[in-house]
Amino acid sequence: MPSHLLSLTDLSYADIINILDTASDLKEKRARGKTSSALKARTLAMLFEKSSTRTRISFEVAMTELGGNAIYLNYKDIQLGRGESVADTARVMSRYVNAIMARVYKHETLIELSKNATVPVINGLSDLEHPCQLLADLLTIREYKGKFKGLNYSWIGDGNNVCNSALLACALTGMKMIVACPEGYEPDNEIVDKAKELGGIISIIHDPMKAAKKADILSTDVWVSMGDEDEYDRRLRDFKPYQINSKLLEQAKHDVMVLHCLPAHRGEEITADVVDGPNSAVFDQAENRLHVQKALLLKLLS
Ligand code: CP
Ligand code: NVA
Repeated sequence: MPSHLLSLTDLSYADIINILDTASDLKEKRARGKTSSALKARTLAMLFEKSSTRTRISFEVAMTELGGNAIYLNYKDIQLGRGESVADTARVMSRYVNAIMARVYKHETLIELSKNATVPVINGLSDLEHPCQLLADLLTIREYKGKFKGLNYSWIGDGNNVCNSALLACALTGMKMIVACPEGYEPDNEIVDKAKELGGIISIIHDPMKAAKKADILSTDVWVSMGDEDEYDRRLRDFKPYQINSKLLEQAKHDVMVLHCLPAHRGEEITADVVDGPNSAVFDQAENRLHVQKALLLKLLS
């Protein structure tokens, strides 16, 4: 296992399967009420520059249920928000805690943290990637479909941080990925190149109907990510044809599973009937954040 998880590319296929297997095992044990004290006396610092529901709660519960502790730190409440450097913050935090999970605007902040920390740093979402989300998505796909290889994964909407991690996840696990996005909203070029280097079969197109054809998985995310609020009106206009709705679903395989990392904006990137409908796996996907992150914490902290 690597020492940090900043990008999904920090993990090999074997690491991913190992995390998913551990996560499934922990999920099953939790359902039977079995507890663990594997991370007793260990502390995770959770540093947030942006809002969060799932990431914050699932990491905190993960630490609690493994016998450890988590500290929530909004950057505004610590000296980082008053100009203390990222490097000094990382060095000081490393003297107290056993790992740092951070949600940041700029991916470079995570790199700076990891260069200066002497404990593992975990990406809890940056402008570039959301690796923990994709670990949860992979667990959900494996639970629903029983495999990865050969599945058609179609992303409809913004080529954003979650899409970038999905490209890497598909490349690492042998799923074919089509991204349908408006022109100008394509995923990061370097990520696409990296995913192709890893063997990814990727098409980036602008026709959502074509992308949805024969899809095993349809996935999307908000049209306006945190940090993009200034572009709200333009984005709402540009993304209008890129909605997951019942018409789009008809193009896909009958047993298509619908993913959304949440929070969802019903009526924008996805309609209420789809996100709340029989093909939706979104709440299992959200729950799986807890199980994969427990597995990840055990690997990084053991
Ligand atoms: N999917 C996800 O990361 O959700 P939060 O922003 O609520 O953490
Ligand atoms: N793309 C979204 C994901 C939120 C979990 C954002 O960055 O705001």
